[in-house]
Amino acid sequence: MSAELNSLATIPVIAIDGPSASGKGTVAQLVADKLGFHYLDSGALYRIVALAAQQQKINWDSAEALGTLAKTLNIRFKEGEIYLNDARITELVRTEEIGRGASEVAIHPQVRAALLDLQHSFRQLPGLVADGRDMASVVFSDAKLKIFLTASVEARAERRYKQLKNKGLNADYDKILTDLQQRDCRDSARSASPLIQSLNALLLDTSQRDIQQAVGFVLNAYKKLS
Ligand code: DC
Repeated sequence: MSAELNSLATIPVIAIDGPSASGKGTVAQLVADKLGFHYLDSGALYRIVALAAQQQKINWDSAEALGTLAKTLNIRFKEGEIYLNDARITELVRTEEIGRGASEVAIHPQVRAALLDLQHSFRQLPGLVADGRDMASVVFSDAKLKIFLTASVEARAERRYKQLKNKGLNADYDKILTDLQQRDCRDSARSASPLIQSLNALLLDTSQRDIQQAVGFVLNAYKKLS
């Protein structure tokens, strides 16, 4: 192992994987804030690829073209905002449509490979909390702590429904439930880096837990390792 890789390996990573709308993003961000760690929302990268493809009229099933596109994107995260080639796209990547697109572009190994270096570059001192689908299994397989954060599909649909309603947006519970079931199926059944609970990942089911309890669970598990 080179000296550089060796020193990178000493930077602690907490990998949090789980299905859509499980609350893993909120939990990961809060854990990162508490520990003063950096934070990687890897799902945002797949969302950005889906959005950029849509803007450039590239189909979400064009594996080669998407792989090339993903390599050339100039992505920046700053103070809670996301920029693509200097345009602010924070809200644009959060729509349900782009979420579905992200799940479709994420199937292609070409896209996943193109995003690997960028994801690794977030591993900086004093540490990183990374959330996604393959943080523990592939991207940071040497993570110090691995968490599989999930909740029943009904609990997740209910949360998503309330979030949309609170924002004053239209929401249809049955449609949200069907969309989540389809997305779970696509994310888990694909052959490239599917969503799975890694062998040594701790299971955190948030169906009956609130965000603060979930954050407490992760922080406690991390403290026990230190
Ligand atoms: O976490 P999210 O809902 O923003 O992710 C959107 C999609 O991106 C998700 O349905 C699958 C894909 N994704 C992935 O394949 N691998 C990751 N590490 C993160 C997200």
